[in-house]
Amino acid sequence: MKKRIIVGITGASGPIYGIRLMEVFSRIPSIETHLVLSDSAGITMSLESPGWTPARLKALAHHSHSPADLAAPISSGSFKTHGMVVIPCSMKTLGNIAHSTGGDLLCRAADVALKERRRLILVPRETPLHLIHLRNMAAVTEAGAIIAPPAPAFYHQPKTIQDLIDHTIGKVLDLLEIEHDLFQRWGSSRKSRVAK
Ligand SMILES: Cc1cc2nc3c(=O)[nH]c(=O)nc-3n(C[C@H](O)[C@H](O)[C@H](O)COP(=O)(O)O)c2cc1C
Repeated sequence: MKKRIIVGITGASGPIYGIRLMEVFSRIPSIETHLVLSDSAGITMSLESPGWTPARLKALAHHSHSPADLAAPISSGSFKTHGMVVIPCSMKTLGNIAHSTGGDLLCRAADVALKERRRLILVPRETPLHLIHLRNMAAVTEAGAIIAPPAPAFYHQPKTIQDLIDHTIGKVLDLLEIEHDLFQRWGSSRKSRVAK
């Protein structure tokens, strides 16, 4: 059985992170993706990644769901998944997940991941952070989610923006226990090219 992974992409800056994750997943045959793209993500995509459209991105997914479709399979805990990634995660969606509002499919699916004790990885994009942002991050962490900010490392000597993006995507794949070779690990001298 394939690993089902839900990918939520919200209207925080950096839709390229979600795009890159979907590109990488689309090349791993053992993964089945369920994509939820918020309406605001369509706006940031047109502003920040003009070569991409929601339609082009959805073509990379096995299943794409409208955020309004609260009857989609991923709305129920009985639909088994390996986990969910929200990348990038806006402060609005972070707040909705922290307060369990379940107002759209993306937040409902995240709520389901938490209640079923499945892996939920949030990649928040905002800076600086005020106390409510930090409290929301603490709340979701207490409920079992993992906050994984797109904070670039430099030990692998990145040369391009793509190297920086791939470092963040590689960290997300590590958290999902999916093999990859998107960046050179500290202490290793060789790339083995699993998913690139
Ligand atoms: C160009 C642009 C960049 C934005 N960047 C951020 C950001 O980095 N973080 C954030 O929380 N919101 C950001 N926003 C605001 C969100 O898009 C807005 O709060 C939206 O309502 C989020 O909705 P969603 O979580 O349903 O996608 C940005 C908006 C635009 C237009």
